[in-house]
Amino acid sequence: MHIHNLTEQNSILNTFISELRDVTIQKDSMRFRRNIERIAEILGYEISKVLNYKTSQIKTPLGVCEMNVLDNDIVLCSILRAGVPLHNGLLNYFDTAQNAFISAYRHHQEQSDDFEIRVEYLACPDLENKTLILADPMLATGQSIVATFEALKPFGKPKDIHLACVIGAQEGIEYVSKYFDKDAHLWIATIDPDLNEKGYIVPGLGDAGDLAFGEKLQH
Ligand code: URA
Repeated sequence: MHIHNLTEQNSILNTFISELRDVTIQKDSMRFRRNIERIAEILGYEISKVLNYKTSQIKTPLGVCEMNVLDNDIVLCSILRAGVPLHNGLLNYFDTAQNAFISAYRHHQEQSDDFEIRVEYLACPDLENKTLILADPMLATGQSIVATFEALKPFGKPKDIHLACVIGAQEGIEYVSKYFDKDAHLWIATIDPDLNEKGYIVPGLGDAGDLAFGEKLQH
């Protein structure tokens, strides 16, 4: 798997990630969602550099200009619910993409930190020969993104696969690297060292779904 860690080079992206992490700034959920969206736009821009292009004649008011324009059939798939702002940001750039949504969540046994990933809702177009972008802001254990990909298999075999994430734990990155084949790409805004006993990324930012959309009742 090709791993692209976007904070290997300093850029404005660092500011957006810092604001997501900051315990005071992250309380503003509109700003939290918008920062994820801004990061998604940067991820989208980086992904666009390895996609396919075709030459097109563009008629301007003053003449004709030859331009290389994107020539990929993209399906953007996000994991509910934290994936929604990431999805929106990617869709700002890949505005003609088709869309897939899946609910994959951690189901905890009573009072236990152990969990299994449950996939329930799934809406997906045909994936055969498409460019699949799987969006999940927090790549913690990697189990959700793998469970998602497994659930998508009946919809066809994508031509290429891109995982788009904001923060990844080293352990989760190793897990997905072993699962996906070597041609797949992981685009990640930054990488953190640890996971705690509850499977949260440390230092991370907390619960991305709750910060974006409010706390939920456990079930
Ligand atoms: N999901 C989150 O929202 N945060 C984490 O740290 C891990 C998974």
